[in-house]
Amino acid sequence: MTYKQEIIAHYNGRTNYDNDFTLNRAIALLDYASPFPGQRVLDVATGTGNIAIAAAQKVGTNGSVIGIDIATELLKIAQQKIQAKNLSNVELIEVDVKVYQAEPEKFDAIYCSYAIVLFPNIPKIIENWYRFLKFGGFIAFTCSSENSYLALSIVEACAKHGITLPNLHEPLGTPERIQDVLTQAKFTQIKIHPRQMGTYLSLEKAQSKWNGQFWAHIDNPLRQLEPQKIRQIKASYDDEIAALETKQGVWHEELIYYVVARKA
Ligand SMILES: C[S@@+](CC[C@H](N)C(=O)[O-])C[C@H]1O[C@@H](n2cnc3c(N)ncnc32)[C@H](O)[C@@H]1O
Repeated sequence: MTYKQEIIAHYNGRTNYDNDFTLNRAIALLDYASPFPGQRVLDVATGTGNIAIAAAQKVGTNGSVIGIDIATELLKIAQQKIQAKNLSNVELIEVDVKVYQAEPEKFDAIYCSYAIVLFPNIPKIIENWYRFLKFGGFIAFTCSSENSYLALSIVEACAKHGITLPNLHEPLGTPERIQDVLTQAKFTQIKIHPRQMGTYLSLEKAQSKWNGQFWAHIDNPLRQLEPQKIRQIKASYDDEIAALETKQGVWHEELIYYVVARKA
């Protein structure tokens, strides 16, 4: 299975994706930058369309929204929600962000919620977004700190067994790195709003957060490993997590950066 097929299979299997948590964490992006009536919006990796729908309601019938994604099953859910709300200004396109092209200066706003770290070439995608935007337009996306979702413990457990696991959250995992990538692509007025959504978990729950295998990274060395090796790595992960336990439990960081940047 290729990386792209893995991503599609994973998200197609998540037809129960929608709940209050996933809705609220996505539409929170609009609190930081919202489109105006009549504007054109692109929602990259729209999934079940939460941002696309909220944006469509903001831009009204004189505006329009395009939502793109590769997970057919999630797009079907998005389409049903759009129909149920009688929205005529949203178009969904099943396409990989990597190949999606739009004419220069087409959009006033480009959103990408909880997806950017899954894209293989982030700087190139951000460069495309700059081109697709009008002057004065903005991009708004989320990414996570490099230690969110216990990522560093997973990487450390792999390292103990001689496996170099690239951290999915590393490229945009600090405010400085986010700033650098956006500045390289000529974006200005970069605003990074951190939101801590972490909680303490019981030891058992924290250990169950990683099954020893799933890791959505294009260069994932775990795919090639024998089950026995995976079991050893998983045991090391469980030890790493046990060492983090405090009276309150294990801190499960979910530090989300809500990022807005403009094409001036
Ligand atoms: C965690 S979901 C987020 C969905 C939505 N943005 C939200 O916040 O509710 C990640 C989404 O990224 C999409 N995705 C991943 N890689 C993609 C790619 N290369 N091109 C387009 N969509 C992609 C997945 O199919 C999935 O719908």
